[in-house]
Amino acid sequence: MRLNRLAFVFSTAVLLSIFVVIHGGVTSSYVRVAEPSEEMPLETFPPPAGLNAPEQVHITQGDHAGRGMIISWVTPLNVEGSNVVKYWIADSDGSEKKSVPASTSSYRYYDYTSGYLHHATIKGLKYDTKYFYQLGTGRSIRQFFFVTPPKVGPDVPYTFGVIGDLGQTYASNQTLYNYMSNPKGQAVLFAGDLSYADDHPNHDQRKWDSYGRFVEPCAAYQPFIWAAGNHEIDYAQSIGETQPFKPYKHRYHVPYRASKSTSPLWYSIKRASAYIIVLSSYSAYDKYTPQNSWLEDELKKVNRSETPWLIVLVHAPWYNSNNYHYMEGESMRVTFEPWFVQNKVDIVFAGHVHAYERSERVSNIKYNITDGMSYPVKDQSAPVYITIGDGGNIEGIANSYTDPQPSYSAYREASFGHAILDIKNRTHAHYTWHRNQDNEPVIADSIWLKNRFYLPEEETASVDSRV
Ligand SMILES: [Fe+2]
Repeated sequence: MRLNRLAFVFSTAVLLSIFVVIHGGVTSSYVRVAEPSEEMPLETFPPPAGLNAPEQVHITQGDHAGRGMIISWVTPLNVEGSNVVKYWIADSDGSEKKSVPASTSSYRYYDYTSGYLHHATIKGLKYDTKYFYQLGTGRSIRQFFFVTPPKVGPDVPYTFGVIGDLGQTYASNQTLYNYMSNPKGQAVLFAGDLSYADDHPNHDQRKWDSYGRFVEPCAAYQPFIWAAGNHEIDYAQSIGETQPFKPYKHRYHVPYRASKSTSPLWYSIKRASAYIIVLSSYSAYDKYTPQNSWLEDELKKVNRSETPWLIVLVHAPWYNSNNYHYMEGESMRVTFEPWFVQNKVDIVFAGHVHAYERSERVSNIKYNITDGMSYPVKDQSAPVYITIGDGGNIEGIANSYTDPQPSYSAYREASFGHAILDIKNRTHAHYTWHRNQDNEPVIADSIWLKNRFYLPEEETASVDSRV
């Protein structure tokens, strides 16, 4: 009896391993223990020294084409000069400083009152130029810099970092600093779930402040293109907080009006050779809704001869073979996937699942309720779906995958890390994923992506480079 059972287990294992070989997907043997990641205490991030010193500085693109920058910061007091950003071209003597005033607000959340949140939009910047900028007054002046992107064009190389579900644990710290050690990263595509303040009692808003201080060494110097995740909703009826996205919308401004969006939760930008569309998994997207109408119009505006790379950023993944959050992106997939295939979207970056996964180019758009074809098939007009919710937040790793690995899943690993998307020209981009346990130069997964509009050929992953 026992032998029979062993024989059964063995033969099942053999069958499964044959299946794995046949479909070619890889489940990494690198699997972390599922335990909460340790949060860095609030005291790790004290406010900067100096009276009314500006803090939590972060920047994002401030217009549609890259000649604008939104500078955001917080001050404890709202006094004369604390809402002004001064800026100048780095390659100048600084005698011609320009200044822009910010819009300033503050919000209350349960027993917390925020500092003064300033957002200033600088417009008319020169492309491909380094600028210094200065915030604060008196002895509390702080200075930073940024580099504007090159003029939008089809063969403009550009390197994005990709991070999701970051939080503020020791693992988050490793993710952020690993990314920062890569000298090529010019801007970050952020797939949602920022501070995880809502994992603390009464959505402890001080955690939004500490998060702002934590990411400042990166986010003050290069733009983060933000997408909102479920941890940005901060809906807590039990404590009387019923306005969804209140802290996020106050703290993180994006240039949504530049793409004719009516909400900061969905918008688009052009940057170098990429057209980036940000969607909201947690706002209505069915037919007739504002997000749906906006996306329908938006996709018609994408000119691939100007921006060959069409990239979508959304929080809940559509193709996810992890047991965590399984199929949570399904209704959005059903709604939008035909458009993505029709418009030959190159890559969809999602977060939410605290692990890493890269899909084959597949679609599941033939399905209707009567034809029975309810499975994904290879489709060279479809995007590669990448789940990058592996920033390392307080909730820990998602290490339970569906078994066997489905055929649409090319590579999956339950580790923390980040990715680099290195666009070379209109046809090729080198995509790499870097796990935290290794130094940044080590590539754990990589693929030469071929542009769907200009070179819609099948790609093969660089398996040799995996370690
Ligand atoms: Fe999430």
